[in-house]
Amino acid sequence: MIKINQKLDHPLEHKTECLILVCVEEKKPSGTLKKFDDEIAGAISHAFENKRFGGKPGQALLLNNIGKASNLLLVGIGKAKDVTAEKICQAAGTAAKLAEQSKFKSIAADLSAFEGIAKGKGGLYRELVGAMAEGVGLALYHFDNYKSRDEKDDPPSRVEKLTLLTTSKSLQASTEKSIARAEKIIDAVHTARDLISHPGNTVTPTYLAEHAKKMARKNKITCKLLDKKEMEKLGMGSLLGVSQGSDEPPVLIVLEYNGAGKKKAPTVIVGKGVTFDTGGISLKPGAKMDEMKMDMSGAATTLATLQLVSSLKLQANIVGIVAAAENMPSGSAIKPGDILKSMSGKTIEVLNTDAEGRLVLADALTYAQRYKPKEVIDLATLTGAVLHALGHQAAAVIGNNKAMIQKLKNAGEATGERVWELPLWEEYEKATKSDIADLKNIASPGVGAGTIMGAAFLKAFAGEQPWTHIDIAGTAWGFDRPYTNKGASGFGVRLLLNYLEKGR
Ligand code: BES
Ligand code: MN
Ligand code: ZN
Repeated sequence: MIKINQKLDHPLEHKTECLILVCVEEKKPSGTLKKFDDEIAGAISHAFENKRFGGKPGQALLLNNIGKASNLLLVGIGKAKDVTAEKICQAAGTAAKLAEQSKFKSIAADLSAFEGIAKGKGGLYRELVGAMAEGVGLALYHFDNYKSRDEKDDPPSRVEKLTLLTTSKSLQASTEKSIARAEKIIDAVHTARDLISHPGNTVTPTYLAEHAKKMARKNKITCKLLDKKEMEKLGMGSLLGVSQGSDEPPVLIVLEYNGAGKKKAPTVIVGKGVTFDTGGISLKPGAKMDEMKMDMSGAATTLATLQLVSSLKLQANIVGIVAAAENMPSGSAIKPGDILKSMSGKTIEVLNTDAEGRLVLADALTYAQRYKPKEVIDLATLTGAVLHALGHQAAAVIGNNKAMIQKLKNAGEATGERVWELPLWEEYEKATKSDIADLKNIASPGVGAGTIMGAAFLKAFAGEQPWTHIDIAGTAWGFDRPYTNKGASGFGVRLLLNYLEKGR
């Protein structure tokens, strides 16, 4: 992770390889930007005049060797009245990537534009500064754990340091707070991305459990690990059915964070932790099967969110439950037609062993009921169908409570981790009924609505309290933002933090 600090300095006096200036969309530079422009012989207004840059979102322009600031990176954030933290985060991501491509090692960013936009609103100022730091930190994520250093004659250039520049002493404390918070967010998102990026022969259920144990110890979280024997005692036949074809033992990871009074009902977050999904006996096709190492993204988000809420000392009780298993075909694997008995007592006809996510989640959701939760959120890379519906732009949300879904949508808009609601009408629930068991894990051919059918199945185990299922199969991998990269996104961590911080 890059180092982020702040300095009280006039941006153009500050010695740096690259100075980032965020610019609002306007006809020609005004305010502080105009002042800077005057000091560098109109280099910025020139760019505006030539229409090479106008402060529009997504625009960036690198000006080399101009006067005092040797390299100036202009980045657009759109009209001042429409500026949001997400827009700053995106602009920061764009700027950071451009700076890294330009081989700068140390960069600085001027914050004075935010003073103008926030106009004395301290909360907004802190948010915008935080978004700047977050955008840069998130965009510069790299997963190179498996690259041999010495084999490379040309190591990639990396930005190592970001300095945020304020000219106002009174804003230093706020800026410091924003940086500290952003660092925790970046760290948590990177933790999730790492867990997802590691291959299936590293991240096994056991690895997830070890990670959870260490993370919990560092963060004053209680961690309980339920092994196969304990799950057998609880009757978790659904989860165990998925893992029975694999040599990797399954585990149920239970994390408890107590940031509020002991008696306060917790929010329970449940994550799908299928560390590799071959499809089982209903084997997946070979193309892109490697990407199924990401089928534990819900688990990664759950673990990272618990780490984050604890490091930020959120005043709430939050439980994280991860259902970790590997889905393999073998002589001991479940077969199409097999019937499993879940912890809830409900029996499940497994018509497709590749619909395994809902099977592991069923028992985890039942286990969640022990906490008499205020609400339950599950995150899962559950269906390929969500990619057809929403692509890589938004996760699907489906649940039993309008207010909860609205709150999640708001959190999605605020963080850029968008969610979109799909309906859960009773006709869908009817289509989960089996002829010979209580439920079947896939609907009959022709029913369609793959993402909804996944949720309809989960609803049978979710309890009566508010519950929302978030299908992140399209966003956990390949989520398309200036501050994300190819592969793992860590989608959901910033969404859930925002959601949890808004209270109820
Ligand atoms: N892990 C997959 C879903 C998935 C697909 C995640 C693409 C990420 C990218 C899940 O276990 C699965 O295989 N779902 C099946 C369900 C079907 C058998 C009803 C699917 O989507 O094809
Ligand atoms: Mn599957
Ligand atoms: Zn899966």
